[in-house]
Amino acid sequence: MSNILHPDHVVTLRWLDAPGYGRLEMVDQTRLPAVFEYLSYDSAAGVAEGIRGMVVRGAPAIGVAAAYGVALEALRLQSLTGTEFNTALDAGFTVLSQSRPTAVNLFWALQRMQHCRSQLAQTNTANIAAALLAEAKSIHEEDIRINRQMGEYGATLLADGARVLTHCNAGALATAGHGTALGVIRSAVAAGKRISVIADETRPFLQGARLTAWEMVQENIPVTLITDNMAGHLMAHGEIDAVIVGTDRVAANGDVANKIGTYMVAVLAARHGIPFYVACPLSTIDLNIASGDQIPIEERAPSEVTGFRDTQWAAAGVRVRNPSFDVTPADLVTALITEKGVIHAPNAAKLEKIFSG
Ligand code: MRU
Repeated sequence: MSNILHPDHVVTLRWLDAPGYGRLEMVDQTRLPAVFEYLSYDSAAGVAEGIRGMVVRGAPAIGVAAAYGVALEALRLQSLTGTEFNTALDAGFTVLSQSRPTAVNLFWALQRMQHCRSQLAQTNTANIAAALLAEAKSIHEEDIRINRQMGEYGATLLADGARVLTHCNAGALATAGHGTALGVIRSAVAAGKRISVIADETRPFLQGARLTAWEMVQENIPVTLITDNMAGHLMAHGEIDAVIVGTDRVAANGDVANKIGTYMVAVLAARHGIPFYVACPLSTIDLNIASGDQIPIEERAPSEVTGFRDTQWAAAGVRVRNPSFDVTPADLVTALITEKGVIHAPNAAKLEKIFSG
């Protein structure tokens, strides 16, 4: 196979055209790796539920899904009069914006869809719906291109034979394709480097064990799974050469929000002199937020910590905290890998420059 939307590896989201409407299909990431199944969506509320319930997750994939959510809603509403259409479409934007708080790609994509809509205010509802669908398809395709570009820049940072630790899943499943952190690894492997991956399990939702390990096994990229508390031991024994993670939001000063546990890995990497890289499309950089302490951190259900699926292992009634992300201060980040190049030792001036350059 292989065109930009249907690359050789897993297709996380796909659009099915039908005359006058369409469907978004998304791999159900709550059931991987045991079950590989697409779920079908036809409304903004449905897609918002899919995002909230983690059917689709990972910052760029959430952005692409939200863009299609807007397009689905516009197609569904296109027979309404202009005013009714606008009111109902506004409600679609609102429900999507409330699905998850941390990944800025969600708000970036919704803003882009709003901008597209505002350019067409004078035309009829069918034209608006068609334009919104075209915009969602562009966001989808761009994400894959950007990931490949980041992959090429990032691959130059990895030596042949590097053993690379990653946390959470920043792979094809977390994006429209190729991946951010795993995209760098894929690109390095494609360039002929012998890379092996150490995947943190990633408590509590197990994105590392369930998704990263699965993606790497699918492509025969050597992968070793560890529990999160083993990373320090491996680093201390010289078994890790580099860390690469993705991110959900980078503040204007270079502070990085990513899956809970990332900060711990960054501190350990600094202690052991191991480079800590963050693969980060520009859509994940939020210049409106001065520093990481202003990034909203999602707090998820206690049941994710007290057990998994039907199994509960914690004492009934125990008090639980479940912050889903943490913030790694910029001074622990060796470099951000973006589609415009590598930003070593990121800071406010360098981030501002990359947007103006
Ligand atoms: O809660 P999740 O699974 O959506 O969290 C995902 C992450 O933390 C990823 O590392 C991040 O979104 C980067 S994805 C390319």
